[in-house]
Amino acid sequence: MIYTKIKGTGSYVPEKVMTNDDLAKFVDTSDEWIASRTGIRERHISVDELTVDLAEKAAKKAIEDANVSPDDIDLVIVATVTPDYAFPGVAQLLQKRLGLNEIMAFDINAACSGFLYALNIADKMIKSGAFKNALIIGAETLTRLTDWSDRNTCVLFGDAAGAVVLSVSDTNNIKDIICGSISDDQGYLICKNGDLKVPEINAISEQDHIHMNGREVFKFATRIMPKMINDLLDRNDYNKEDINYVVAHQANQRIIDKASRDVGIGMEKMFLNIHKYGNTSAASVPLALDEAIKEGKLKPGDLFITVAFGGGFSYGGALIEL
Ligand code: UT7
Repeated sequence: MIYTKIKGTGSYVPEKVMTNDDLAKFVDTSDEWIASRTGIRERHISVDELTVDLAEKAAKKAIEDANVSPDDIDLVIVATVTPDYAFPGVAQLLQKRLGLNEIMAFDINAACSGFLYALNIADKMIKSGAFKNALIIGAETLTRLTDWSDRNTCVLFGDAAGAVVLSVSDTNNIKDIICGSISDDQGYLICKNGDLKVPEINAISEQDHIHMNGREVFKFATRIMPKMINDLLDRNDYNKEDINYVVAHQANQRIIDKASRDVGIGMEKMFLNIHKYGNTSAASVPLALDEAIKEGKLKPGDLFITVAFGGGFSYGGALIEL
C-alpha cells in the first residue's frame, strides 16, 4: 500500500504591511469595525512582487525544510486565483526558478479551497504509484483584484504564499481528504476575468474586482466548516478529543469561533493568524500550517484537521497525522 505524508513546509509574505488604520485613511472604515467583525488587524500587500515571486520564496523554504533535492520533485501544483498570466501557469514559471526537471506542473483554481484541492490531487497521484514528491503551493496576490474603494471587501484580503512537499510514505499520514462544491450561480462571491474579449462587441474587457455578498458567504462558511470537521471524524472513526489541532482557512475569526462552538473543539485548538495576514485565499491554509509547525503548535505525530471554503462555492478538508 502506498501512503503519503507532509515532508516539509514553507511560507512567505511580502514585506509591506497595511494596518486597519492605514485603510481607514482612504476608505470609510475603522480598526474597531474590522477587528471586531473579522479579527483582522493588518495584512501584507505585494508592491512589486508577482504571484510567482511569492510562490518561489515559499517553495524554496518548503524544499529546504523537506530536505529533498529539486531533482526529486516530480510534480508541481499551484493553487491560485491570481496567476500572473492566463498561460504559462505559475507552476511552469516556477520550474526554471527552482531548477526542477521536465516534470508535470500545472495550476488549479478552486478559490480559497484551492490548496485542499491541490493536496487531494497530489495525494491521489502519489498513491497511484506514478509520483513520489509533489510540491503543492497556494499563492495569491489577491490585493491586485480588490477594489480599494469597496469597504465590504478591501479590508479582508492580503497577499501570501505557502508551500508543502508531499511525499510517498510507508505510514498512513494523510488519512482522508474531502473536497466538494455547490454552484454559486448567484455570484455571491465573484470576480470576472480581465483582459478577455467581450464576445458581443469583440472588445477587450476591463479588469473586474472582487464582488461579495458577505452574509451569504458567512452562512455557507459557518455551515460547511463544522460539517467537514464532523464528517472527517465520523468517516475515520475518530472523536474530537483525538484531534490535537485545527488549521482552518483564515477568512474571519467569527467563522472559526462558530465552528469551534459547533463541533465542541475549544479555541485553544484552533490556529489563528488572521490578525496578521487577513484572508490570503489559497495561501491561507499552507501559510497557517507552516506557522503552526514552526511555532511548535503542531508536532510530529499530532493529528490535525485542516478545512477551507471559498468562491465557487468550494470546500475542502483533510485529516492528517503530521
Ligand atoms: O474566503 C471567503 C471570502 N469571504 C468571506 O469569508 C466573507 C464571509 N463574510 C464575512 O466575513 C462577513 O459577512 C463580513 C466581515 C464581510 C461582513 O460582516 P457582517 O457582520 O456580515 O456585516 P454586514 O455585511 O452585515 O454589514 C453590517 C454593516 C453595514 O452597514 P449598515 O447597512 O448596517 O449601515 C455595512 O455597510 O457594516 C457596514 N460595513 C462596514 N463598516 C465599516 C461593511 N464593511 C464595513 C467596513 N467598515 N469595512
